[in-house]
Amino acid sequence: MDPKAESMNDLGGRLMTDYPDVPGLLAHERPREPVYCIYPEVYRRAAQDFVSGFPGRVLYAVKANNYPAIVRLLHAGGVQHFDCASVPEVALVAEHCPGATCYFMVPTRLRGAAREAFERYGVRHFMIDHASGIDILAAEVDLRQVVVFTRVAVHHAAAMMDLSTKFGAPPEQVAGMMTALAARGAEPALAFNVGSPVMRTEAYTYGMSVAAGVLAELPFQVNLVDIGGGFPYAYPGISAPPLRDYFHAVKQATLALPLAPDAVIMAEPGRALAAPGLSAVVEVLLRRDDRLYLNDGMYGIFWELRFRDHDGYPFRAFRDGVPLQGETLPFRLFGPTCDSTDVLPITFLLPADIAPGDYIEFGSIGAYSLSGRTAFNGYFSERIIQLSDVNAQPPGC
Ligand SMILES: Cc1ncc(COP(=O)(O)O)c(C=O)c1O
Repeated sequence: MDPKAESMNDLGGRLMTDYPDVPGLLAHERPREPVYCIYPEVYRRAAQDFVSGFPGRVLYAVKANNYPAIVRLLHAGGVQHFDCASVPEVALVAEHCPGATCYFMVPTRLRGAAREAFERYGVRHFMIDHASGIDILAAEVDLRQVVVFTRVAVHHAAAMMDLSTKFGAPPEQVAGMMTALAARGAEPALAFNVGSPVMRTEAYTYGMSVAAGVLAELPFQVNLVDIGGGFPYAYPGISAPPLRDYFHAVKQATLALPLAPDAVIMAEPGRALAAPGLSAVVEVLLRRDDRLYLNDGMYGIFWELRFRDHDGYPFRAFRDGVPLQGETLPFRLFGPTCDSTDVLPITFLLPADIAPGDYIEFGSIGAYSLSGRTAFNGYFSERIIQLSDVNAQPPGC
């Protein structure tokens, strides 16, 4: 195929340009706007590894990256279940992942959203975290036809972001809510989320022990326990245990839960599936000593660095499509907007002679980047391409 040929493909209906890899892209053109590159095999493998390793049902948390082509790749890699937080997320999965199941896993929804999800998209799993949520849900769906998760608040110090400050009921209130749901005809289930990302496996063991306490209070057994997301990704400088250690910890902790015989443990990984297969190719616009000004920044693809403290992304620099090597220096990286907070919170060791017109490719950038970026100051690139060489490797691999 002519690498410059514009082709309509099924990547969310946008015009795409097909290149085998990033050197191929940069050898053919000097993109003015950031280009986001999908490595399809990396996504497929991430999905396969998670689904085959996790001791239960895997729901991809769509919020982490809702780009249609990426959701499709994860589906193709074996993810059959999706954690959605809005009707547009449900609609996206319904359109792009035939046969998949959506779960509406957030305790607050727009008025009418549960009804639309239930009636139009056949969603049968919902969530509450307060007793008043039962009537709100019952006004829109037939409780006798749905599974309702009650989310219990769990916090553990190993989580970088505490997700219990907003959602989740105190453990002592949860058995009462689940019993009330059962009395109304719903199938009760239990959920928790220990945070995001979770840097040590014992956080899940702790979450399971809180769940065990709630389950022990119930006059019935449940079929589903959802342990949320939080599985970490090994960004540079991050020393999290491998995923298999998390899976093992979950498996062990499950043995102590008083569950129905065929009960299923569910997980909602976002970052672990979304991060690995996307890179951002950005241009250096200006150099001032150790400062580089880029065509993307904190309001764009680096959005997540505002909230989460990780050491950035693996990267490599290019000049005329060829990797730039040699002695390195620490640089501060600024985005293109007028805002002085538009600067990456960490320095990057880049080739000492890097100059305007060179490009930097940042890998492992798929989580909470495309789904969170803004068009502040008019900077918003639509260039998302899928690389065609299945052996192409992003930086850091
Ligand atoms: C309810 C819920 N599930 C899943 C996730 C995904 O978390 P992660 O990307 O850390 O796996 C989040 C993240 O905020 C969440 O709030």
